[in-house]
Amino acid sequence: MSNSDFIGVFDSGVGGLTVVKSIIETIPDENIVYFGDTAHVPYGSRSKEQITEYVIDDVKFLSKFNIKAVVIACNTADSIARDTVSKMFPLPFFGVVNPAAKKSAEITKNGRIGVIATNATVSSGAYEKAIGRINPSLTVISKACPLLVPLVENNRYRKNDGVIETVLREYLEPLKEQNIDTLVLGCTHYPLLYDVISEILPGVTLISSSDAAAEALEAGLRKSGLLNNGEGGKREYYVSDNPEFFESTASVFLGGVTEGKVKHFSQA
Ligand code: DGL
Repeated sequence: MSNSDFIGVFDSGVGGLTVVKSIIETIPDENIVYFGDTAHVPYGSRSKEQITEYVIDDVKFLSKFNIKAVVIACNTADSIARDTVSKMFPLPFFGVVNPAAKKSAEITKNGRIGVIATNATVSSGAYEKAIGRINPSLTVISKACPLLVPLVENNRYRKNDGVIETVLREYLEPLKEQNIDTLVLGCTHYPLLYDVISEILPGVTLISSSDAAAEALEAGLRKSGLLNNGEGGKREYYVSDNPEFFESTASVFLGGVTEGKVKHFSQA
C-alpha cells in the first residue's frame, strides 16, 4: 500500500457524492476515484439480477486503478450485490447499510427504527437483517420512497418547497404513527432532505447513511493500517454517460465543493 493509492467509491450516479462529501470531511488526505454509473441510474427500481450485473461492472472499472479499498456508496447496490462482489474481488469492501444500521441500533431508545429507501433496498430487507443481527429485539419499519430521488435531482429538496413537503408528509405519516424515535436515511439522496424531514418528524433522530459510512470507513482503514499518512487528497470522477448532468449537479451533492474533472467512461 502506498500513499498514492485510491479509495474507489461508486454509485449508480450522482448520489454517492454525499458519501464522498462525508469521506472528505472525515479523512481529507485520502485519494478518491469515484465512478457514477449514470448510464444506468436509477438502480433503485431495477431487478436484483440487473443491479448485480451493473455493480460487478462498477467494481471492474474501479479495479483498473491502484485501489486499496472500495466503498459501495449506494444503498441499493450495497443491499443487493455486496455479497457477490466481495466474493468476486479480493479487495476490502465498505458499505453504507451496515454502518447506518449499527448507528441506528445504538441510538434508538424506544427500540422502534424507521428506514426510508428505494424500492430495491426495501424489498431486499437488508436493513431489517443488519439491524436484527445487532439486536433482534428492535422493531424496524421500512418505507420505500421512489419519488424522492427524481425530486432531489430536480432541485426540489429545500424547505418550503410545497411539492417535496407534500410527498414527504405522505411517506412519513405511517412511520410517525408507528412511533419511531430514529429514522435511517437509507439512500444517497436523502441527506439533502434532512431539514424538511426534521420539520415533519420533530424529536426523531435522523441517521445519514452517508455520514455513517464515512465514519465506518475511517475506523476500518485505521484498524487495517490503510489510512493515508502523507500527502494526498487527489479526486478523480468518472461517469458512464455524458458528464454534463453530473457536472451541473455534483456541487449540490458535494455540499458546494467542486473539485476534479469529470471524465466519461463507457463500460460497453
Ligand atoms: N444511490 C441510490 C441509493 O442510495 C439511489 C439512486 C438509485 O436508485 O440509483 O439507493
